Amino acid sequence: MDGIKVAIVGVGNVASALVQGVEYYKDAKTDGDVPGLAHPDFAGFHVRDIEFVAAFDVADTKAGFDLSEAIFAKPNNVMRFSKVPKTGIKVQKGPLLDGVDKILKALVSVSNAPDADAVQVLRESKAEILLNLLPGSAEEATKYYAQVALDAGCAYINGTPIPIASDLEWSKKFEEKGIPLVGDDIQDQLGSTVLHRSILQLLVARGVRVDKSYQLDVGGGAESLDSHYRGRMRKRGVKSEAISQDLPYDAPLVAGSSDYVDFMDNARDSFFYINGRQFGGAPIKIDIRMEVTDGPNAGPILLDAIRGTKLALKRGIGGSLESISAYGFKMPPTPTTMYRAERWVEEFLLGKRKL
Ligand SMILES: NC(=O)c1ccc[n+]([C@@H]2O[C@H](COP(=O)([O-])OP(=O)(O)OC[C@H]3O[C@@H](n4cnc5c(N)ncnc54)[C@H](O)[C@@H]3O)[C@@H](O)[C@H]2O)c1
Repeated sequence: MDGIKVAIVGVGNVASALVQGVEYYKDAKTDGDVPGLAHPDFAGFHVRDIEFVAAFDVADTKAGFDLSEAIFAKPNNVMRFSKVPKTGIKVQKGPLLDGVDKILKALVSVSNAPDADAVQVLRESKAEILLNLLPGSAEEATKYYAQVALDAGCAYINGTPIPIASDLEWSKKFEEKGIPLVGDDIQDQLGSTVLHRSILQLLVARGVRVDKSYQLDVGGGAESLDSHYRGRMRKRGVKSEAISQDLPYDAPLVAGSSDYVDFMDNARDSFFYINGRQFGGAPIKIDIRMEVTDGPNAGPILLDAIRGTKLALKRGIGGSLESISAYGFKMPPTPTTMYRAERWVEEFLLGKRKL
């Protein structure tokens, strides 16, 4: 069985949870119940088939260090749930571009090491997939690494809310090169968007009329700080659009982040409010608070996205992957309901669907 050679750009909390997760689940049984993981096997690959071969960051606590150390370096504050042995992969210093703005500089101290030639690093490491985990407002840097992936012949998975897989021009470029593209903006294993969408679907299926709903998050960690100051309106647009997929009529829906709370570290609290009408107009009100840890919440989705992308590489597919993107990301090239996205993925895995 081939391994899956993955390079990461942005060794933050999500990258840390992902690298820890590959170690944590490397011996996961494929025939039983594995806590925290829906798919030990996916697209014909086990979690242990994922191999990290290169990484890029700009922080002076990470660039120049082994990946196993960088994933626990400040300002990362995600929980430690796995010991990661030395990887032999030195995190390369990439170009800063718009990765760290003046607010984020309060947490991230930028290395003054020279910039690596990212295309050369990817070629030499034989990376097949470049996974973008840059800060969510790093638009220039996200586009820079999309071009790097094209130049190096790597598939690109975009975890940020910057439109790449959902952008026709980028999708066309990847299609012309015969390289898969996946994104945009990770939809967590059980994050606020998935829970909100599931509740709305349940209400629709039970005939309840949803009149209005909001969902707001507060969180800590560098990404919450960045999205609060730079990416607030973008994130609100992506999240609100995602939940609207699951309501077959128009109603006022708002979903977004409301604040950054430094002492919360990598925790996120989400508040849900739904107001509607039942049989005979009887009122129904739902008020929920959910507490999660951000980094690990992205883990299983990324494991599936990486393995699905590898399957696309094996099949020689180029351009945006509709199915994997709609299943694992909030702003896919073809938005749809959650259940339909799951069906698309099953069809894609069985070879009954091209993209
Ligand atoms: N569950 C989740 O946490 C979740 C869900 C959905 C989307 N996302 C997205 O995933 C991405 C990563 O989230 P995170 O919490 O790990 O963020 P983070 O802030 O912890 O990590 C970002 C990393 O990028 C590095 N960086 C900044 N500029 C860079 C540059 N020019 N080149 C290379 N590295 C650079 C930073 O030093 C940092 O290590 C974000 O875009 C976020 O919106 C995360």
